[in-house]
Amino acid sequence: MKRKLKQMRPAAAYVIAILAFVLICFVVGRIPTGDSVSQPEGDSAQSDTSGIPWNLILVTNDLALPEDFSVQLATLSDYRNEQVDARILQDLTTMLNDMEQAGLEPLVCSSYRDYNRQMQLFNQERDEFTQQGMDAEEAYAAAMQNIALPGYSEHETGLAVDIVSVSHQTLDEAFAETPEGQWLAANSVQYGFVVRYTADKQEITGITYEPWHLRYVGRDAALAMQQQNLCLEEYLIQQGYIQEAETQTSGSTWETQQTE
Ligand code: DAL
Ligand code: ZN
Repeated sequence: MKRKLKQMRPAAAYVIAILAFVLICFVVGRIPTGDSVSQPEGDSAQSDTSGIPWNLILVTNDLALPEDFSVQLATLSDYRNEQVDARILQDLTTMLNDMEQAGLEPLVCSSYRDYNRQMQLFNQERDEFTQQGMDAEEAYAAAMQNIALPGYSEHETGLAVDIVSVSHQTLDEAFAETPEGQWLAANSVQYGFVVRYTADKQEITGITYEPWHLRYVGRDAALAMQQQNLCLEEYLIQQGYIQEAETQTSGSTWETQQTE
């Protein structure tokens, strides 16, 4: 009997060791790392699928948002509950506060839009051109220079914000001459934003001049773009993220390096 017990002890110890090992693996696997806790939904998907960092994502009338795109939104409470990508909330809030500290009166009039809202705005714009006498094709082409097609707008990323001022609430070129418009053009890069659709880059962006449309790209990129007078497309080419297309097919001169 004694001998039998002695023979069973190593086997029991072996089983206990395996169980302990499995338990430790289970517990360690469930401990959240800083990355998995802080990384918002969609972050890894975006950088994994395109190779372009989330803050530099390129969305144009020829380059749709990825089908699996998702964003974690945060609410800008002082501005009629407008929403933006949670990752830019702090920089945006600081910028707006600093504008107010400087005696300005910024007004966020549009920020994140879902597909349906973008479609509504696009259809309104197209209908206005139709009412002015354009045929359907002309109205569609004209509208998309002002309002991006649904599925193709930076507003759907949560990284674009339209900012006007309390005393100038119309979205027109004259906003550029207001104190708020001038401040944004000069200082928004310090907070990671650029005026995305400038007059001199219209040929590249395909969008008319919008001094109110601020796009978050992050401070490093924004400063580099301002210093070298590059729009986002040009900056992404310079950084090796995209290549200028050899041929123009659907009116686009740009293509991503990604082949998905
Ligand atoms: N107005 C800009 C181009 C947009 O609709 O995204
Ligand atoms: Zn806009």
